[in-house]
Amino acid sequence: MQVEGKKVLVTGASQGIGAEAAFRFAAHGAHVHLVARSAELLDLQVKRIKEFGGSATAHQADLADAEQIRALAQDVPAPDVLVNNAGVGRWLFLDDTSSDELVTMTAVPYMAALLLTREYLGAMRSRGSGWIVNVNSPVSRLPIPGCVGYQSARWALRGLTASLRLDLRGTGVGVSEVVPGKVSSEYFNNNPGAEERIPAIARMIPTVTPQQCAKAIVDAVEKERAEHLFPWQLKAFEISGRLFPGLTSYLTWKTGTHR
Ligand SMILES: NC(=O)c1ccc[n+]([C@@H]2O[C@H](COP(=O)([O-])OP(=O)(O)OC[C@H]3O[C@@H](n4cnc5c(N)ncnc54)[C@H](OP(=O)(O)O)[C@@H]3O)[C@@H](O)[C@H]2O)c1
Repeated sequence: MQVEGKKVLVTGASQGIGAEAAFRFAAHGAHVHLVARSAELLDLQVKRIKEFGGSATAHQADLADAEQIRALAQDVPAPDVLVNNAGVGRWLFLDDTSSDELVTMTAVPYMAALLLTREYLGAMRSRGSGWIVNVNSPVSRLPIPGCVGYQSARWALRGLTASLRLDLRGTGVGVSEVVPGKVSSEYFNNNPGAEERIPAIARMIPTVTPQQCAKAIVDAVEKERAEHLFPWQLKAFEISGRLFPGLTSYLTWKTGTHR
């Protein structure tokens, strides 16, 4: 789907991957709706897009709140492209995680993507066109030790993507999953304790930038790609996980967090 002239909604667009994706969609001629909790950061991103000559609007919403998701869908009619990117979550052993924190890291990304997609799916199907992008983490393919809540939510997001892909076949509405390796965003400052838990073996995978993620997201829509894992070293690791599951899992465990 060409994005020029289209309406695109990006969640988690106040910073990081979402902010760069919003900017790139706008640079490709789309009108972008940016969604997050921080009104001030959203306004800065909208200003940046407009200064570049693009078109964008900010929408403050806490996507962990189902009521606010409904209100957002009332406010913004079904876009042509929905990017489910907002996400939080520290990496912790299950019994070290409070139940409130587990609910929060499942609410965003997983429940937010599920509920917001549900709000817009009917209109996309009636139009016979639309594209959904789910931004996911490598741990949705390659689980690591000491990260139960975060990676369970990412496996659920992967399940949502796979389920939608089957249901949407032949409808004109498509779905992509974009899975970057470690990204040089503020994620690890926003979710302290996670970075140290990346297993040593996974540190061989080079870090990518939010701008590279933005390119991958826009490309996924324009080229109608089902799935994009990058950089290639992550893809190689994922293939190794499928070919040699026991060995890959052992090395991830051996070089990962223990207690
Ligand atoms: N960083 C990585 O290494 C990496 C790698 C692969 C995948 N990912 C995934 O990519 C996504 C984006 O990550 P990032 O690196 O860009 O992280 P980030 O810099 O921490 O940005 C997260 C975004 O999500 C928004 N958000 C968080 N909770 C929200 C809520 N309740 N309601 C609405 N918006 C909310 C934040 O905005 P507000 O705080 O303003 O609400 C922010 O815009 C996440 O799902 C992450 O798991 C990240």
